[in-house]
Amino acid sequence: MRHANKIAAACVAVAMIGTTGTAIAEIVKPGDVKFDGNKVTMSLSGTSGNSADGKKWFANRKLGNCLACHVNKDLADKPFHGEIGPPLDGVAGRYSAPELRAILVNSKQVLSEDTIMPGFYRVDPGARMAKKFKGKTILSAQQVEDIIAYLQTLKE
Ligand code: HEC
Repeated sequence: MRHANKIAAACVAVAMIGTTGTAIAEIVKPGDVKFDGNKVTMSLSGTSGNSADGKKWFANRKLGNCLACHVNKDLADKPFHGEIGPPLDGVAGRYSAPELRAILVNSKQVLSEDTIMPGFYRVDPGARMAKKFKGKTILSAQQVEDIIAYLQTLKE
């Protein structure tokens, strides 16, 4: 029986290789994200992010809404930005992509337990989060990757 399961698993793995021969990107579920200290090394979406999209999510009130708490030089002309969190100018030099991913997935685990910054890829993002996010992550795996790509453009 065990043997049969192994064969079944192997078939599923083969089935996931697309017709072009490249493996179909697999999304890491929030509960399956692996922390290596302060880092999350693997892309959550299995692909790399798009920085232009990331900048959009960063400023989007309904998604990241990072702008409510952080303002960076390149977004300073946007109305209603907040200053609760530090400006993220130069953040690319302070953190690597795996470190940024860990902060975004679960800020409480990486920055400080009582930070008001929500964890964006957790099903329980924090007490302050709106009820509509209960049982859901605030950002999708790809949106997190896109925001990481955007943060990596903030070199100074
Ligand atoms: C409710 C406010 C709030 C929101 C929303 C928020 N943050 Fe933060 N963030 C903070 C605070 C405050 C800190 C500083 C750590 C602390 O003292 O809690 C921080 C720290 C950070 C840091 C580390 C900065 C450094 O230089 O050490 C990064 C990176 C970051 N936030 C990215 C983001 C991104 C990206 C988003 C949106 C997806 C976001 N934050 C949304 C409040 C927020």
